[in-house]
Amino acid sequence: MSFRVQPAAPARPNRCQLFGPGSRPAIFEKMAASAADVINLDLEDSVAPDDKNAARQNIIQAIGDVDWGSKTLSVRINGLDTPYWYRDVVELLENASDRLDQIMIPKVGCASDLYAVDALVTAVERAKGRRKPIKFEVIIETAAGIAHVEEIAAGSPRLEAMSLGAADFAASMGMQTTGIGGTQEDYYMIREGQKYWPDPWHWAQAAIVAACRTHGVLPVDGPFGDFSDDDGFIAQAKRSATLGMVGKWAIHPKQVALANQVFTPSEAAVTEAREILAAMEEAKASGAGATVYKGRLVDIASIKQAEVIVRQAEMLQA
Ligand code: COA
Ligand code: MG
Repeated sequence: MSFRVQPAAPARPNRCQLFGPGSRPAIFEKMAASAADVINLDLEDSVAPDDKNAARQNIIQAIGDVDWGSKTLSVRINGLDTPYWYRDVVELLENASDRLDQIMIPKVGCASDLYAVDALVTAVERAKGRRKPIKFEVIIETAAGIAHVEEIAAGSPRLEAMSLGAADFAASMGMQTTGIGGTQEDYYMIREGQKYWPDPWHWAQAAIVAACRTHGVLPVDGPFGDFSDDDGFIAQAKRSATLGMVGKWAIHPKQVALANQVFTPSEAAVTEAREILAAMEEAKASGAGATVYKGRLVDIASIKQAEVIVRQAEMLQA
């Protein structure tokens, strides 16, 4: 750190982002009725090239027509390496209602990518007199994205969230796997003849969390492809939460409850955090900077750790 205060990330729930293809409007109402905090209507990789146009129209209509409640409503546009993205931005911002909160920019590789989209968004917003500025979220899913993750996190005042996209990330890095997140069979260590499986996504996640926390952006874990594997999803999500991420994508509705469960601090965790705060209040009153809680050291840093959990719980309750 330095003398500068670390900026707070946006205080809004982002435990689960539920995705659905823009070319499948039949599921939009179901998405809106789900328990996800964020809805991501997709124009990118779940939509075939011939369907891009229809998907844009479906999404524009649904933004106005469907009751999205208090959810954050986001549309994933196509990447800047495609011929589609500028139309995504122009058509959305010219025609979608003010209910649209955010656009998600995939495959971001440098801060200038955000600058380019910001320039276009700003021009359309002014031309149309849009009153609510659109927020951004990005996906880190290329080697360039992770190499430039910090400048990207600082890249736009519109930026609210950053996700790790495991599938494209693995492809771009040349990783020898077709799995989307989770344990990878060939990424193991051996001790006394026993295999165990460390986490190949750990470094990228920690790099994203550090960049996000430095610049006040929400760090989010992306998709877990095997939606038949609840235990695998929960294990991945718990690792992400432990590292500082605030939520995870759902690529099938059954993953929403799993993400909400993991990213809502448990009652036991909140109780313990409050007890630590109380113990430190007592210590302070007696002039001490450190004390003992359940046989372990707690000190002034423990206050900050406990406050992370209490603040998150209070924000979710509100
Ligand atoms: N959001 C809300 N509801 C969804 C949904 C979604 N993303 N995907 C499926 N459903 C609904 C189905 O319509 C079905 O509803 P019903 O019980 O009323 O008939 C129910 O959930 C069960 O669906 P299921 O049959 O198990 O799945 P499917 O074969 O219809 O679809 C996928 C599976 C993976 C193709 C689909 O979930 C999907 O498109 N996911 C998002 C993909 C995406 O956006 N990828 C980009 C980000 S990585
Ligand atoms: Mg991707």
